Amino acid sequence: MGNHDPLADLPSPDADGEGEQLWIDVIRRMDVVYSDLVASQVALEEQNQRLQQARDFMHSVLGAMNDVLIVCDADGAVLRVNAALTAALGREEGALLGGPLLDLFDPADHADIRACLAEGRAIEDKGWQLLAADGQRAAVSVNGAPRRDGRGRFAGMVLAGRPVGELLRAYRELDKAHQRLRQTQQQLLTSEKMAALGRLVAGVAHELNNPISFVFGNMYALKRYGAAITGYLAAVDAGTPRAELAALRDSLRIDKVLADIGPLVDGTLEGAERVRDIVQDLRRFSSNQREEPEAFNLVRLVHTAADWVIKTQRTKPEVRLDLPPQLEMVGRKGQLHQILVNLVQNAVDAVDGRDGALIRIKAGEQDNWIVLSVADNGPGVPPENQDKIFEPFFTTKPIGTGTGLGLYVSYNMAEKLGGSLSYANADGGGAVFTLKVPADDRGV
Ligand SMILES: Nc1ncnc2c1ncn2[C@@H]1O[C@H](COP(=O)(O)OP(=O)(O)O)[C@@H](O)[C@H]1O
Ligand SMILES: [Mg+2]
Repeated sequence: MGNHDPLADLPSPDADGEGEQLWIDVIRRMDVVYSDLVASQVALEEQNQRLQQARDFMHSVLGAMNDVLIVCDADGAVLRVNAALTAALGREEGALLGGPLLDLFDPADHADIRACLAEGRAIEDKGWQLLAADGQRAAVSVNGAPRRDGRGRFAGMVLAGRPVGELLRAYRELDKAHQRLRQTQQQLLTSEKMAALGRLVAGVAHELNNPISFVFGNMYALKRYGAAITGYLAAVDAGTPRAELAALRDSLRIDKVLADIGPLVDGTLEGAERVRDIVQDLRRFSSNQREEPEAFNLVRLVHTAADWVIKTQRTKPEVRLDLPPQLEMVGRKGQLHQILVNLVQNAVDAVDGRDGALIRIKAGEQDNWIVLSVADNGPGVPPENQDKIFEPFFTTKPIGTGTGLGLYVSYNMAEKLGGSLSYANADGGGAVFTLKVPADDRGV
């Protein structure tokens, strides 16, 4: 084979005698030429196939891109687009090819696009809007590079645009979900507050009822006594004879009245003071966010907190208090009260309906720290839940009963008070929550 001319050294047709041999030669050489042709045809087809594969590959790559791709020439005519672009515009590829690049974008961006084409330089993060067939706009962030021809002259641009709309939409979805979550959280917080308020109101009603009822009783007695004394004085003023007066004094039981007045007034005052104290506690509870540290006796606080929770329970567990007679501290009383109420409420829930239900509350001072523990003989917290109980919204109680915020709120309050709240299993089953706070919170 080779590239010499296969007919060049053929004998001339007029050479006599060797005519037959000559044509045999001709036919042989034609055979050679033919097989040469077949071989190059096969090679060509192989090349074509490889080319087709390369094209298919390019096509699939371009088609798989999420970013839109536009190739244009130096005059801004569209040469090539990918599937993401046709999908974004809602137009066929055929309708775009050969058309002006500007037609694909919002008129507001045209001046900028023209300038970029004229400069023929790389562009970065241009915020342009694709203009879809239905007039909708889709924001894309466009990056591009100039194309050069074989001689290095500017031949157009390759532009790739990342749909900002997608990002924005995803962001908005996320934002909406976040808003919904916050709303739910807010509602739950409110419902936890309402539940706390409900417990508080029930406790307060109970607490107030006692002193008020004996204030009432005393006042009625004083009213009766007043009437007796007024009657006796009227008789004295009217000059009633001594003997008669003595009988009247007896029947009106004036001596007993006079002896009773002092204690009655004292009792009434005590009741009124009790009412005043409760109101003060309530104020503290409602305004505990801006609460200032104050000096108080923790023992009394433990009593009230425990009483308020227990009094609202239908079946009352036994409560054993292991407290010193006095435990003076300086701290934020309202917040400590709230933590205590939460812990005692949980303990009460844990032992609810159990035989021999027992709650033990212990408090003491160690090295300038107040250590207070609330223990119960309920089921305790199973190991798999122990690192979750302080998370917001973790609850194992039925809907409407638990919000899962009690421990979360308490934990955060304890930390803010410069202390800590921790869980441990109680000896012999059950739960122990231990609260540690500085005995003097003035420095915090
Ligand atoms: N004393 C306890 N004994 C057993 N489990 C408890 C105790 N205190 C709290 N827990 C567990 O911790 C969870 C979270 O408590 P909390 O934050 O107060 O929310 P809630 O009481 O609304 O469920 C409870 O649902 C319960 O599973
Ligand atoms: Mg709770």
